[in-house]
Amino acid sequence: MKPLKVGVVGIRGIGQMHAAAHAANPLAELVAVCDVVKARADETAAKHKVKAYAGLKDMLDAHPDLDIVDICTGGHENGGWHFEPTMEALAAGKNVLVEKPISNDIAEAREMVRFAAEKDLYLGCNLNHYFTEPARLAREAMNAGKIGEQIYCLHRMGFIGGQDIYAKGGGPNFEGFPYSHTKAFLAHPFSLMRHFCGDITHIQAFMDRPGFRRNVSDLMLSIASINVRFASGAVGYMFSSRGDATMGLGGWWSFELGGSKGTFVIENCVEKYTYFPAPQPGEKLGLGEQPAPQVTNTGIKDFGVTFPNRINAFLEDVANQVPKNKLRASGRDALATLEYTFAAIESYEEGGALVRPHALPPLKRDLKDQ
Ligand SMILES: NC(=O)c1ccc[n+]([C@@H]2O[C@H](COP(=O)([O-])OP(=O)(O)OC[C@H]3O[C@@H](n4cnc5c(N)ncnc54)[C@H](O)[C@@H]3O)[C@@H](O)[C@H]2O)c1
Repeated sequence: MKPLKVGVVGIRGIGQMHAAAHAANPLAELVAVCDVVKARADETAAKHKVKAYAGLKDMLDAHPDLDIVDICTGGHENGGWHFEPTMEALAAGKNVLVEKPISNDIAEAREMVRFAAEKDLYLGCNLNHYFTEPARLAREAMNAGKIGEQIYCLHRMGFIGGQDIYAKGGGPNFEGFPYSHTKAFLAHPFSLMRHFCGDITHIQAFMDRPGFRRNVSDLMLSIASINVRFASGAVGYMFSSRGDATMGLGGWWSFELGGSKGTFVIENCVEKYTYFPAPQPGEKLGLGEQPAPQVTNTGIKDFGVTFPNRINAFLEDVANQVPKNKLRASGRDALATLEYTFAAIESYEEGGALVRPHALPPLKRDLKDQ
């Protein structure tokens, strides 16, 4: 099979990681990179011996045979510059992988997903946090019936920090935007909750910022405490923060899904998976005792592996021409996370009211599903 020709848009921190992942993957041929700051594109292009351009239009004109445009731009709330290049690439007939959040604007995100479906192209999003070994083990346990009926989900995800290391900043993408953490970041925890537990039907949120942010008029609501109910009937809780506290058990993020047959916990994203079996019939246990947990330490500590893992999954799905509704971490999946984010914002603005997130576009049946 011929490798898929890829061009990357936006070559700074994250774009460089994407470019390196494509360059190292036999399913891809990195052909070109572009950045409005041309020097950034030049540097990465030289490293990978590919072409550099100052914008997407030039890149598309020079490489009409690109299969995939991978969009790593940022913008306000780290998603403000995703819509325009995504729409331009889709209009040119290209499959698109876009960084998260799919957009910082819900109307734009809905339009991106609608337009990709109209053009019958793959639109994926870099919801990379569940392309890991612990997440694979968790899915395996679920598929083997070892979790059973889902009862609860507890998810904590936050940047480590605290007042002693706090420094006001964040740059123009963040400063002055109260919801920049909410929009830029909650795509990840919401994507994990939905990946394992399905659609969320009810959301209730509190948000705040710690005193050390308030004292310097940092507007960012960096603490989010969110209750959810899933379509399955299970309930869930998410806590997220941006460097406001030291995260405790489970490190930078932990995820626990409790079911009628057993419970799993993922600690520190890539690092550790534990399965806690439910007691077997006749098993005699005292109060506080439980069956022995089964622990897997992956030996992995570097979150960076999630990028090549997730990019490989997108390349596989496009190469295999999977039905559009089977694309892993699709634009529609990313839209779901943004719908939940906007529901959480609405709940916070209404003093913690219960909000039902906007419905997703129907999942189209694909003829290839037959
Ligand atoms: N998935 C993850 O784990 C993860 C982690 C961090 C950041 N991100 C996301 O990655 C994206 C990029 O993050 P970053 O920190 O590298 O951003 P950045 O702002 O540092 O870099 C973006 C680059 O895009 C360029 N650019 C902007 N608009 C352009 C356009 N229309 N055409 C060409 N180039 C353009 C800018 O000049 C800049 O070099 C953000 O959306 C962010 O949310 C994802």
